[in-house]
Amino acid sequence: MTSRTVEPPGAEPEYGSLVRDDRVHRTLYTEPSVFADEMERIFGRTWVYLGHESEIPEPHDFKLTNLGTRPVILSRDEEGTARAFFNRCSHRGVTVCNEARGNAPRFVCSYHGWTYSSAGDLLNVPFPSGMDDSFDPAEWGLHHLERVESYRGFVFGVLSAEAPPLAEHLGAAAALIDEWVDRAPDGEIVVRHGVRRVAARANWKLYLDGAADGLHPFATHRSFVEMSARHRDGLFISQFRRNPDETPMYSRVLGGGHQYLDQRPGMGGRVWDATRPAPGTEASVADLEQRYGSETTPEILERTTVAGMNVFVFPNLSLVDNSIGVVQPREVNRTEVLWHVTSLAGAEPESLPLRLRIGEDFPNFGDPDDIENWERAQRGLELVPDVEWLHTGRGDDGEEGADYGVTNEAPMRAYQREWLRLMQHRGGENP
Ligand code: FES
Ligand code: FE
Repeated sequence: MTSRTVEPPGAEPEYGSLVRDDRVHRTLYTEPSVFADEMERIFGRTWVYLGHESEIPEPHDFKLTNLGTRPVILSRDEEGTARAFFNRCSHRGVTVCNEARGNAPRFVCSYHGWTYSSAGDLLNVPFPSGMDDSFDPAEWGLHHLERVESYRGFVFGVLSAEAPPLAEHLGAAAALIDEWVDRAPDGEIVVRHGVRRVAARANWKLYLDGAADGLHPFATHRSFVEMSARHRDGLFISQFRRNPDETPMYSRVLGGGHQYLDQRPGMGGRVWDATRPAPGTEASVADLEQRYGSETTPEILERTTVAGMNVFVFPNLSLVDNSIGVVQPREVNRTEVLWHVTSLAGAEPESLPLRLRIGEDFPNFGDPDDIENWERAQRGLELVPDVEWLHTGRGDDGEEGADYGVTNEAPMRAYQREWLRLMQHRGGENP
């Protein structure tokens, strides 16, 4: 057995010694103190995805979200500006909003009735004659996130005043978000179809490890791959039956911990042709052909289907097929991923049911496979402290922006370097 690398409890961990070129230490996934540092140094410092503008379209609309483990209200104020503040009463800390979403011009705390506006300002306290003159309501509003910015409808917040502008943080991921959103005839996506909540007894980074990993599908999703191939060779996910490095699919390191996997080149010329049949496909296609003709319908179907793009924006936003995934760390060994199927603004309404059904395809077959393996990994890492390292060294690292065969683990190593950069920074100013 090798000597243990981790410092005794209470010591500042040397994170640099835990992330190496071809391996990372198991405690990144198992140690509560590492998780606590992540909530401070990553989710407390870098831009975090909070929600989509279309989830709060009207004044006073709100939804609950999170910044790491911190509960946050994303709200549209009376003037129509998106605001984000902690869901934490300024009086004694109670969560002032306890509905997942809705429309409320006021947030009234259930404990002593302090009342806030949809902009988070403190409007009144009960029986104000009992308050001292020195009490200044302007000082006691709900605590705002330092900055809130949105890009193509995706709303992000950050706690650090010195963080770079959102567009700079997104870097090369911005053009891929554009490409994903520009499939919509009106250039906007819409998030309004509820949420599918996936829970795993596993560390949140297990999701990140797989965000651009083309190695695992042949094994993890084997039954899905085989089932698709039996149905028809070339159907979605059957492209992983052969060595995926010998297909034109590629992954890319985007910088800033962002990752990309483009499956489209492995799916043939038109993604629709590789789309698996969903309940109601034939009837929907017939209906569309009748309404829009056989010339226009293929175009409609092409944007109705899966996007074939996996874009991951560090640390918590995932665009996969037609859905937005939000990685939600809960505890060191507990994670939720919130999936929102999207629709396209300006798309033919008759195509929406088909889009939603297609959006359910991978989750039905693929999610249980992924979750099972994340949980098995978590068990192995927790229960066997004697073996300290995980191997992350497949393939070489190229320049930033380089493309890789999809079994290369370069995108994983790249996000781990960003993780390390943030975790090693202890000072007040932004890294
Ligand atoms: Fe909210 Fe007292 S804790 S009003
Ligand atoms: Fe998977």
